[in-house]
Amino acid sequence: MIKGKTIDLWSLERYNLLEYLKWSNDRELIHLTGMPTLPKSMVELENWYQNAIKNPTNKFFAIKTKEGEYIGNIELNYLDWITRSVEIGILIGKREFWGKGVGTESTLMILNFIFEQMDFHRVYLSVISHNDRAIRLYEKCGFKREGIKREAFYSMGKHSDIIEMGLLQKEFQKLKKTKLKEFFKE
Ligand SMILES: CC(C)(COP(=O)(O)OP(=O)(O)OC[C@H]1O[C@@H](n2cnc3c(N)ncnc32)[C@H](O)[C@@H]1OP(=O)(O)O)[C@@H](O)C(=O)NCCC(=O)NCCS
Repeated sequence: MIKGKTIDLWSLERYNLLEYLKWSNDRELIHLTGMPTLPKSMVELENWYQNAIKNPTNKFFAIKTKEGEYIGNIELNYLDWITRSVEIGILIGKREFWGKGVGTESTLMILNFIFEQMDFHRVYLSVISHNDRAIRLYEKCGFKREGIKREAFYSMGKHSDIIEMGLLQKEFQKLKKTKLKEFFKE
């Protein structure tokens, strides 16, 4: 478990899947995250989970409150130990926790873990261009825009761009001493 101030990151467990199934079929969450748009069944999710836990290039975390309530996921994809780079994704599935700083805390915790504990060089992610809250969060954490996949996502009757963002270890370490100093204060 990775311990935070208001939330903790646990390994995603099989018993979390029923809640996750609701989120992965939620139209608004699909629209915001770019998750696959086709409906998912429990069997499909279960198969996905069984494959994911066997795959050494993935790691899935459950975001939980200090009371143990499961509120979202953070995932690491394409862990590459040669380039020392990894893709991350975040989803706070329970809407009542949006806009309360949980996304910021979870993202900074996982970035700190990747850059300080794993000594990785680069973290990257994709975000749909209409997801203003997520873009704000990533820019606040130091991510820079690296490119755009034009009209690569389709949901709710419209195509949207996918923005590619990246953050280097040295940039994160600099931010920890400046803009993010308050967050990392012991
Ligand atoms: C995106 C998400 C992870 C952000 O987490 P959160 O806990 O809701 O966000 P935070 O409270 O940490 O706020 C992050 C920043 O966004 C800003 N913000 C909040 N709502 C916003 C909005 N509608 N538009 C723009 N910025 C917004 C906040 O003010 C904050 O910036 P600040 O600290 O400079 O004020 C979360 O809302 C979520 O999981 N949403 C649904 C799924 C999703 O979009 N995942 C990301 C896929 S790339």
